[in-house]
Amino acid sequence: MQKEREEFLKEFTSFLQDRGFIWGPSPEIYGGFAGFYTYGPMGKLLKNKIENTVRSIFQSNNFWELETPIVLPDIVWKASGHLDTFADRIIRCSKCKAVFRADKLIEDRIDKSVDHYSDQQLLNAISENNIKCPSCSSDFVYDIKKQSLMMKTKVIDEDASLRPETATVTYLPFRRYYSFFRGKLPIGVFQIGKVFRNEVSPRQHVIRSREFTQAEAQIFIDPEKKNEWEKFEDVKKDKLPFWPWQDQESGKDPSSVSVEAAIKKGWLKTKSYAWCIWLAYTQFINMGIPPGSIRLRQHNPDEKAFYAEDAWDIEVKLRSFGWTECCGVHDRTDYDLTQHSKFSKVNLSATREDGSKVTPHVLEIAFGIDRPVLALLDIFYEKREKEEGKTLLNIPYKLAPIEVMVFPLIKKPSLLKLAEKVKKGLENDFVVTYDEAGSIGKRYLRSTELGVPYCLTIDFDSVKKKDVTIRDRNTAKQIRVKISDLKEVLRKLLENEIKFEKAGKLIKVSSLEK
Ligand code: GLY
Repeated sequence: MQKEREEFLKEFTSFLQDRGFIWGPSPEIYGGFAGFYTYGPMGKLLKNKIENTVRSIFQSNNFWELETPIVLPDIVWKASGHLDTFADRIIRCSKCKAVFRADKLIEDRIDKSVDHYSDQQLLNAISENNIKCPSCSSDFVYDIKKQSLMMKTKVIDEDASLRPETATVTYLPFRRYYSFFRGKLPIGVFQIGKVFRNEVSPRQHVIRSREFTQAEAQIFIDPEKKNEWEKFEDVKKDKLPFWPWQDQESGKDPSSVSVEAAIKKGWLKTKSYAWCIWLAYTQFINMGIPPGSIRLRQHNPDEKAFYAEDAWDIEVKLRSFGWTECCGVHDRTDYDLTQHSKFSKVNLSATREDGSKVTPHVLEIAFGIDRPVLALLDIFYEKREKEEGKTLLNIPYKLAPIEVMVFPLIKKPSLLKLAEKVKKGLENDFVVTYDEAGSIGKRYLRSTELGVPYCLTIDFDSVKKKDVTIRDRNTAKQIRVKISDLKEVLRKLLENEIKFEKAGKLIKVSSLEK
């Protein structure tokens, strides 16, 4: 299994590099700095698409977007607890002195989460599983040490840190939100932005890097109103792949259970939190991750952060790394506002209608953008053994980095001129590029490797009849469409209102298929 994954990863990483998705570790010409990556032209287009999908789902569910600083004075991180407790537990090789994350060494061997193990349990597991230094195969020093994950800096002479999550920085302007939203809870906000973690062992490509992009949404809510959540009614019958911690312990698989039933079973405590889990799941479905590759894993009570009332992760099954945590949904109680109120000496409570005071609780959906980007590429990358084109990116059409490519059939001035005009006409509505190099067959293959859903070919008939051929990536079927109808047809195709049927005609997509 491990060997299979390693082989896939090697081939997949070279696809990512060669096709302009993700390069690194960066800067490559200086040998690479572990845990830092560059998104190439294709990768950046895809990342933008994912961010925009996430943004639009949060916005349409009443979350308001913010942008806060990345660098904050250390008092913030003292208050949040990051400065003292946000650390990796490391172990050192007795011979070559290399350091490794103790939990990851064990997880690689036994394929289960040991986040909740005490230091002693980690040491026991290393001995019991006879785990040696991956660099030189020697024994480890029998001692677990903590290595802070905070990326430190100085602002003139004041100690500061780069944010390791957007969340903490989103809590800080609570008084501003409270006044802007006219003293009414709940308040929903979110940020998409860079965060930094001084990982001891950055690993698994962009899954665990030192600089990455998070998308985190928070709801500030009155704890007494956590079970009054109207939007729950719209989603309560939806079935999600829940995997509560008791089922994990007893070796049961996740089960597809409605959100309402998950509350009845006692897996979820409140309607508002259950809705957050539904929303997080919906984000991943909307990004095009297949439902069969998603599970919702509840944290074991020992694994949960001490302040968290409940915590569930969304895990996605990757060919490179198996089940991989891609999102966390946490009920963080009043921990954050209480801490920041204590350290800043600013009152961060809200006032109820009856005049009583309450420190709002925070419900949080936290995920990285880089992980779903890699997940989509990992899931939809295909190697074609027998065909001429070596690879295919079978990504859902609406997520494709380039939506349309325009090809003049051959390099004749009349075709080049019309192709340029067609491209220009589409530029404001689609991500569209132009390619005139090589045979038309080679250009189709190149477009398939990049996952481009539709290619437009301009031939001599196009000049006479003012139409073009649209070629569909998945069926390789072609139809002719008037240039004047092109925008509308492409929009409908990309929004899945119409599709190519096998015989090469355009037909309506039924609502059941969507
Ligand atoms: N704010 C939670 C996280 O960064 O995972």
